[in-house]
Amino acid sequence: MSTTYSRLFEPIELGPVTVPNRIFQPPHGNAYGLGQQQTDFRAEKARGGFGLIVQEYSQIDETTDVTPVDSGYLHDDETIPPQKRMVDAVHAHGSKLFVELWHGGATAGNYGSRQPPLTSSQRPTGRNYTPKAMEREDIRTVLDAFGDAADRARRAGYDGIELHAAHGYLISQFLSPFYNDRDDEFGGSLESRMRFFEDAIERVRDNVSADMAVGARYTIDERVDGGLTADGDGIEVMRRLSDDLDFWDVDIGIKQSIDDMIGPSRRHEKNYQMDYLKAATRELDVPVGGAGRITDPDDAAALLEENYVDMIGMARQSISDPHWPRKVKDGDVDRIRECIGCNICVSQSRQGIPLVCTQNPTVGREGDWPPETYEDAADPKGVLVVGGGPAGMEFARVMGERGHLVHLKERDDRLGGRVTFEAGLPELGEWNRVRDWRAAELDRLETVSVHTGPRAEMSYDDVRTYGAELVVIATGAEWDETGTTSSSHQPVPGWERDHVLTPTDAIATDLSGQTIVIFDEEGYNVSAGVAQSLAADNRVIFVTPRASAFQETLHTFERRTIFTALYDLGVEFVANHTLEEVRDDEVVASNVYSGDRRSYEADAVVFTTMRESNDDLYRSLKADAESLRSSTEIESIHAVGDCVAPRRIADAVYAGHELAREL
Ligand SMILES: Cc1cc2nc3c(=O)[nH]c(=O)nc-3n(C[C@H](O)[C@H](O)[C@H](O)COP(=O)(O)O)c2cc1C
Ligand code: SF4
Repeated sequence: MSTTYSRLFEPIELGPVTVPNRIFQPPHGNAYGLGQQQTDFRAEKARGGFGLIVQEYSQIDETTDVTPVDSGYLHDDETIPPQKRMVDAVHAHGSKLFVELWHGGATAGNYGSRQPPLTSSQRPTGRNYTPKAMEREDIRTVLDAFGDAADRARRAGYDGIELHAAHGYLISQFLSPFYNDRDDEFGGSLESRMRFFEDAIERVRDNVSADMAVGARYTIDERVDGGLTADGDGIEVMRRLSDDLDFWDVDIGIKQSIDDMIGPSRRHEKNYQMDYLKAATRELDVPVGGAGRITDPDDAAALLEENYVDMIGMARQSISDPHWPRKVKDGDVDRIRECIGCNICVSQSRQGIPLVCTQNPTVGREGDWPPETYEDAADPKGVLVVGGGPAGMEFARVMGERGHLVHLKERDDRLGGRVTFEAGLPELGEWNRVRDWRAAELDRLETVSVHTGPRAEMSYDDVRTYGAELVVIATGAEWDETGTTSSSHQPVPGWERDHVLTPTDAIATDLSGQTIVIFDEEGYNVSAGVAQSLAADNRVIFVTPRASAFQETLHTFERRTIFTALYDLGVEFVANHTLEEVRDDEVVASNVYSGDRRSYEADAVVFTTMRESNDDLYRSLKADAESLRSSTEIESIHAVGDCVAPRRIADAVYAGHELAREL
């Protein structure tokens, strides 16, 4: 290991617990529940060298519930045995496992338990319920529940407790003047607002063993007007409570500013939370950990060296590459699969859909697909892969790892396919890591040769005569030119006019000083990126049949930054409208509910409605599969990725990986 990184691997004492290094996974949910999948997932990070793992937010009793997310629980004794197994699995690799005790307060709708959501003060939630301001007996009940949950955590064998006092959940709803306007001993002055937190710490301390650490997840800056700030009460709370805690796991942002809490790479620089934390780290004797788009080992080492934090937290990076610490230690820094900050992970888990990752297709399948471990091919084959986008690259990589002899053909001058296009859109540059990591791995593999450029284009006859035994077609998808939507299933009349463009054409064309109508049903990164790109030099009118633009970015937390950027550029939005017709210099749009029609001036029109598979080559080969098998070396023909069904990049990578594991 380079001495540069040695500080990362120094042990650190969190009260009575010695953590073997300073690299930890802050709590993060995954909607995997408490079964074997959860155990395998956390144990993989321990195997990959994370010194401390904090199991996700775990419900302490029935007055709060995680519905619809199958998440962490400590509300009854039945939750103990599976967590005991998880603790043992993590300990087997020498790492420590803490658990985060969570009460959601106003933020938990309690749709499962049907109990009234409880909080410090009755304030709007922006949803279809308003919570109850807790009476004194509610407060006693919940404080007791913190104690009982800590007792269960002790019995499960956890090494420590992290109280969830962050993100606008119950404890932070007491701490924060943004939520708390009580006038009793639990509200008003800072001292009174801290009382609930202090009492919760006491209850937890009363129920853990002397060898367990007790710390807190804490939001030092809430990033809302009227909330805690890092240079005000935010740090003051830490000053006053540091004698009671063994560590702090500090971050920024609450529900109302969630895009700052789990910042996407769009407008959130690497290490973006560190400036909020450094004063506390430098002033307090208690260790402070922090996270926020830390992915680079040099940065991580420097952040420790310069006392920004005492421990490096990586939630998303630990998902994207659970072997980050081991790779740093082994000198394999170049092989780290860096997170791209797309937030596909959290967009799924927060809706109760099991977590997946764009960069790491093995996530959630660690039991049967151990990351970085591949089964040697019993009978290595000659494999031809046509198409070097995310699915083709991932497939070729895993087949190469398994010992097959792979030729990867990409007709463009470089690998990447759609990733290269999408990462070229404004503010998505880090998405290129999907391509670049795979390109570097392919380069390293002696079993794989990559051919790019026009001469690598493969026709039916080229494939037929190539001599490969396995043929995999990964030719991706193209944007539809006709503007067909889910509700019309018909081309927009006038779609064939010259000034109607696909997103790729629009970016490749020199457009300026024009009025451009974008007709969108994608609602995600391509329409946002094309709009942002074009709006720099044109007037852009964004028409969508959806109730709002960019609905697919609601849970990736990119919505605010996208809308901010586009409003700054003067983009005009026309929601709930479909396109009836494209004319020479205008379009006709109609309201999807009232049917009212209106014309908009348009020098150019861009459709970001749907993509269609490029599957002609695959289908023609497949149609002749029998004769090809008898007349050539070809044994089987497969299609993979967008060539089968155009979906997210994450799905293309997964499909490539899955096929290569299973062939
Ligand atoms: C999928 C996902 C789930 C999360 N769940 C939790 C959670 O259960 N409790 C919590 O305190 N923070 C949670 N977080 C926030 C992370 O702990 C972390 O603060 C945030 O992701 C920023 O760190 P990162 O850039 O290293 O990901 C979650 C983050 C992600 C990506
Ligand atoms: S889904 Fe995206 S943001 Fe989440 S860990 Fe994977 S690469 Fe990072």
